[in-house]
Amino acid sequence: MDSKNTDREFYKIFSVVMIFIIGLTILIAILSNVFASYSLHPSEQYKQEIQKRENQRTKPVANINLASNPIIKQATPIITASAGKLSGEEVYNAVCMSCHTSGVAGAPVIGKSDQWAERIAQGKQSLYSNAINGIGVMPAKGGASNLSDDNIKAAVDYILSESN
Ligand code: HEC
Repeated sequence: MDSKNTDREFYKIFSVVMIFIIGLTILIAILSNVFASYSLHPSEQYKQEIQKRENQRTKPVANINLASNPIIKQATPIITASAGKLSGEEVYNAVCMSCHTSGVAGAPVIGKSDQWAERIAQGKQSLYSNAINGIGVMPAKGGASNLSDDNIKAAVDYILSESN
């Protein structure tokens, strides 16, 4: 092989390698752009983390959702017109849920049978009358004084059926 041929051979290989490298660079540039949109820049993640922790630190110590609180009263849909026709579930969702889903203020949580067992043992009549007249921090009828006793009983039945 003469030197001219070797040179040509070299340039051929060299240009192939160059094209490969350029192609790879472009590919990496595209991919990094694609991935950049998936993940946040570390400084952004840092900021978000700081924000999250700050929110945790500064959040209210307690969220007592007492129905006697005027703000909660507003948030609790006032059922008037069709009070007679409501199912237990409807009453529950409209009135009782605010306390009995989260267990706020020590309310026994719906679905947690261990929190209800002792109360159920007192008998249904006692549960009915406590729900209707109020017990501890639970206001009478959960604060929805416009509801009938039967509405409340239906809601108690609903809670019990979900909690045993
Ligand atoms: C403002 C929050 C709140 C609302 C609203 C609320 N409850 Fe309660 N409820 C409680 C708390 C707190 C207790 C536990 C009271 C205690 O034992 O000192 C409780 C207890 C009960 C009990 C158990 C009573 C017993 O004898 O042990 C029943 C039944 C009950 N609630 C039904 C209802 C129904 C039905 C509604 C909706 C009409 C409702 N609650 C709405 C807070 C609430």
